[in-house]
Amino acid sequence: MKDASSRRGFLALTTSLGAALASCGGGDGGAPAEAPSRLGKPVSSYGERSRFSAERRFIAPTKTPEQAASLTPLQDSEGVITPSALHFERHHSGIPDLDPSVHELLLHGLVERPLRFSMDALKRMPSVSVIRFVECSGNSRSEWSKPAPTAQMSSGMASCSEWTGVPLRTVLDEAGLKPEAKWLICEGADACRMARSLPIEKALDDCLLVYGQNGEALRPEQGYPLRLLVPGWEGNINVKWLRVLKATAGPSETRDETSKYTDLMPDGSSRQFTFAMEAKSVITTPSGGQALPGPGFLEIRGLAWSGRGLIEKVEVSVDGGSTWEVAQLQEPRFPKAFTRFRLPWSWSGAETTIQSRATDETGYIQPTVQELVAVRGTESSYHNNGVKAWKVLADGSVTNV
Ligand code: CO
Repeated sequence: MKDASSRRGFLALTTSLGAALASCGGGDGGAPAEAPSRLGKPVSSYGERSRFSAERRFIAPTKTPEQAASLTPLQDSEGVITPSALHFERHHSGIPDLDPSVHELLLHGLVERPLRFSMDALKRMPSVSVIRFVECSGNSRSEWSKPAPTAQMSSGMASCSEWTGVPLRTVLDEAGLKPEAKWLICEGADACRMARSLPIEKALDDCLLVYGQNGEALRPEQGYPLRLLVPGWEGNINVKWLRVLKATAGPSETRDETSKYTDLMPDGSSRQFTFAMEAKSVITTPSGGQALPGPGFLEIRGLAWSGRGLIEKVEVSVDGGSTWEVAQLQEPRFPKAFTRFRLPWSWSGAETTIQSRATDETGYIQPTVQELVAVRGTESSYHNNGVKAWKVLADGSVTNV
């Protein structure tokens, strides 16, 4: 709110106390109408949210169980942490039911000492906790040709958690990498043995062997009891239900990095090992499927993230891209994590288009989808980080463009 007129708009959103007093007859001095007068529910050993809370993952319709995916309701999100129960899912052969008392991590290949780690052994090692996003490289796939109608559908294969575990570097040092070890094959314990090749520089940089998420154990759908976290890199390489690490001289060209997760370019070649998720943002309020109650003040809110580090700036346009304003960023910011942005807005009631664009600490600016298509052509499927616009109609409804 920058001036008196926008303040009047804000006050118009509240209910006047006079009206409230009149409606309850004045007998109890204007107390809220539904103050409870009986004992509520008892305490519980594991909490549940209110029955009035409606946010849910969207379960994508798929042809086979191997394509299973669900999307985070970003339009309902607050702050930067995604509740574990709402973290997006993408599995290639379902969620295995693993017993941590028998689950082991095997580390072998080009190492001096092949090692086996029980979960108990991993939990005794020095640990760290970091807040990082995970995004499927197929997130926003719809935006290449048919923009999705809600933030959940357009961008909901991205989520952000506090992850706790052991630096991958610690166990690699313990085993002793041979000089010719340049890659790791990372394999999961799901039925398809989902596997990806990880360059050794990244493995030694900021990767974690994760057993904790948002203050409790990993959820089964996030890899319980152990997953790999590869900060800022495409979701698929953050191998869940991790059971094997094998040090190798070259990449292994696994099924999951050849049949999938490559980008077909206009000249017929394919980009492979496109790991980092580039800077991206989406306005979550107001966003597609929502409805504004009327003209006046509201706070535009959204999320921005970059696989290359910190978000430095988010700009918002409320006039179809003619002018841009710098949004406020929630502090503290974390690298390779969701960053919440906010901008006050007084909506005139006229139809308009709103959109956001993020800049990260490398100076990279989120492109438009048209700019992406100019480079990648029309056969790309993965890595769409284009600017997402929403149309606000005069009746207050919000839709995709
Ligand atoms: Co990629």
